[in-house]
Amino acid sequence: MKIGILTSGGDCPGINATIRGVCKTAINHYGMEVFGIRSGFRGLLDNDIEPLTEKSLSGLLNLGGTILGTSREKPFKKRLSAASEDKPALMLKNIHELGLDCIVCIGGNGTQKTAAKLAQAGVNVVSVPKTIDNDVWGTDVSFGFDSAVTIATDAIDRLHSTASSHQRVMVIEVMGHKAGWIALYSGMAGGGDVILIPELPYNIHNIGNTIIERLKKGKPYSIVVVAEGIQTINGKKAAEYIAEEIEYETGFETRETVLGYIQRGGSPTPYDRNLATRMGGHATELIASGQFGRMVSLQGAQIGSVSLNEVAGKLKLVDENHDLIVQGKRMGICFG
Ligand code: F6P
Repeated sequence: MKIGILTSGGDCPGINATIRGVCKTAINHYGMEVFGIRSGFRGLLDNDIEPLTEKSLSGLLNLGGTILGTSREKPFKKRLSAASEDKPALMLKNIHELGLDCIVCIGGNGTQKTAAKLAQAGVNVVSVPKTIDNDVWGTDVSFGFDSAVTIATDAIDRLHSTASSHQRVMVIEVMGHKAGWIALYSGMAGGGDVILIPELPYNIHNIGNTIIERLKKGKPYSIVVVAEGIQTINGKKAAEYIAEEIEYETGFETRETVLGYIQRGGSPTPYDRNLATRMGGHATELIASGQFGRMVSLQGAQIGSVSLNEVAGKLKLVDENHDLIVQGKRMGICFG
């Protein structure tokens, strides 16, 4: 059996550990042949593939990024005109000519959608969820999330000392796309005083009051953690907007930090390495048992899988009754 593996969408820590998990299981346990497809789905359009061997799989467990490269190529996106390339047809022709019996797609929400369409077109597909945002529906956790939360928590920890020295309000913006998972988990782990996520509406007067009340209790500084996806006005970025509004509302000196791509870079945490290894191994198990059109998932403590048709097009958002929010509110943290 000849399998192709690709990584698509934004990178994150743990992708290489997944590639290693898929391929080592395929080669050592099942005697399959494995080919790396370069630059996501673009590699299937350009026939850009290379064999992966034990040698090429060395040193991957703790390596950030993706050795296969990635892109945001969406081959099923509507054609602009009859003259533009029929990408789905080209991709199907190439998969057939390359003799690939199955494609493993590692990616976030966009990738799951494309993988579902590829499966509907008759290709044997297995996918693995990957994103720092933790917003892929059908899995409790995606690898990359724990690493991003660890990096963001470390950044918040560091902001505490400078905030307290200068008696300032520090606003930190973290990633997460339309979801607030990174802000909620790093905000709580880093001891944020205000945590704003897209799933919960906020009122700037409440936020201002929280900060003023802290001063009255002898705490002349505050840490505000905001998710990049919160609502703002005039197209302003989350941290910039909230910092301006807080300064206006309270009169306190306020500074902003946008953490950015640092959250996606570097080595995965031990948790993410193990999750990636388990998910990668399970992807190969699905192939070996002929279960295609499925995405590997973590449900509770168990690795399993869900139908790609169920996953495609959905987002996993933070529930307003999430126990971290309920507990945070009880402790006086402001969620908006
Ligand atoms: O999906 C992960 C993510 O890091 C989001 O949190 C962020 O909005 C987005 O990617 C930005 O990625 P890019 O600039 O690569 O499109």
